[in-house]
Amino acid sequence: MTERTFSIIKPDATKRNLTGKINAVIEDAGLRIVAQRRIKMTEAQAKKFYEVHAERPFYGELVETMTSAPVVVQVLEGDNAMARYREVMGATNPEQAAEGTIRKLFALNVGENSVHGSDSTDNAKLEIAQFFKDEDIVG
Ligand code: CMP
Repeated sequence: MTERTFSIIKPDATKRNLTGKINAVIEDAGLRIVAQRRIKMTEAQAKKFYEVHAERPFYGELVETMTSAPVVVQVLEGDNAMARYREVMGATNPEQAAEGTIRKLFALNVGENSVHGSDSTDNAKLEIAQFFKDEDIVG
């Protein structure tokens, strides 16, 4: 079933000029980038986006990292896009990520793991809506 998911290319990756290389992995995996914008996330945006992790010990560090440099927010479309992108990203901790995944190829550590992808289709809708208007997504 064709669906959409939300992706962020994180500061550690934009700082190392890896946007194009990561997009190539995404496209080679059969996902289409149907919306994309480079932004500097504000503290308010990052806090809201990661609200679910507010009680975790790494929350402050996470917000700081995500606002430290530009990110690229994206909408990806394809068959089972949410699950497919999670496969393509690899495990959250790059030490556990499978060969060929974005995190195995590019991530530095669990906090600087190069990409974010929605963890459910319901969250994908909420995350997309935080950054994109319907008319900005061209499938
Ligand atoms: P992401 O998919 O963006 O969702 C939450 C993020 O929190 C996760 O990727 C990691 O970058 C970060 N994270 C998860 N666990 C830790 C941790 N133990 N220490 C620092 N950051 C973490």
